Amino acid sequence: MTIHIGASPGEIAETVLLPGDPYRAKWAAETFLENVKLVNEVRGMLGFTGTWRGNPVTIQGSGMGMPSLSIYVNELIKDYGAQTLIRIGSCGGMQERVDVRDVIIAMTASTISTPSRGIFRELNYAPCADWELLRAAVSAAEAKGTKTHVGGIYSADVFYDERPDLNDQMVRHGILGVEMEAAELYTLAARFGRRALAVLTVSDHLLTGASLPSDQRERSFGDMVEIALGAAFDTKG
Ligand code: HPA
Repeated sequence: MTIHIGASPGEIAETVLLPGDPYRAKWAAETFLENVKLVNEVRGMLGFTGTWRGNPVTIQGSGMGMPSLSIYVNELIKDYGAQTLIRIGSCGGMQERVDVRDVIIAMTASTISTPSRGIFRELNYAPCADWELLRAAVSAAEAKGTKTHVGGIYSADVFYDERPDLNDQMVRHGILGVEMEAAELYTLAARFGRRALAVLTVSDHLLTGASLPSDQRERSFGDMVEIALGAAFDTKG
């Protein structure tokens, strides 16, 4: 047990999928894993451990935003020995060619600030994904035939943004989508020598105003979960 995770030692797998939403953790575990067991419900931030094709997997909610994710990822790495951490979540599309329902695999995550900002001081650290995981995720996405984009994303600190000029600069510099967690996940994984990746579903679009209808969410989120599991175990889906 840690301050925020009630699982016993050994109840968390080395491979952890991290949706922001704890109910999405429940849905993904019940839909894709076998032998599922609830391992955390502290603060309602549900976590489940089961198996996928015989491989142990934990799916643990991270909450929204980097400060929340930082708490769970620190404890998963330092106290439970998590080795491979893959964020599965939604993002806002930022390029015309990126459509709602597409999947984005985040090579890098630009940010104004992360909870780790203080240790870098004047340095602009460049959070990036684990190459092997990224490559395996692209293979899994290609095998599934999912429309996928690979490139930079923006990890914002705020959902209700008062600085539209920042989004404009991100769009101008080719950033594919905006979410709120990946930059800190990548930074923590690098610090502790673990593997990290973010696989995201485009749920809304900043340029077109389009959004994923609720009846299509499950199917699109399912593709993302299968790509993440395929990447973790380097299968082709
Ligand atoms: N901003 C930040 N995070 C998000 C968005 C967004 O527009 N859409 C989904 N996650």
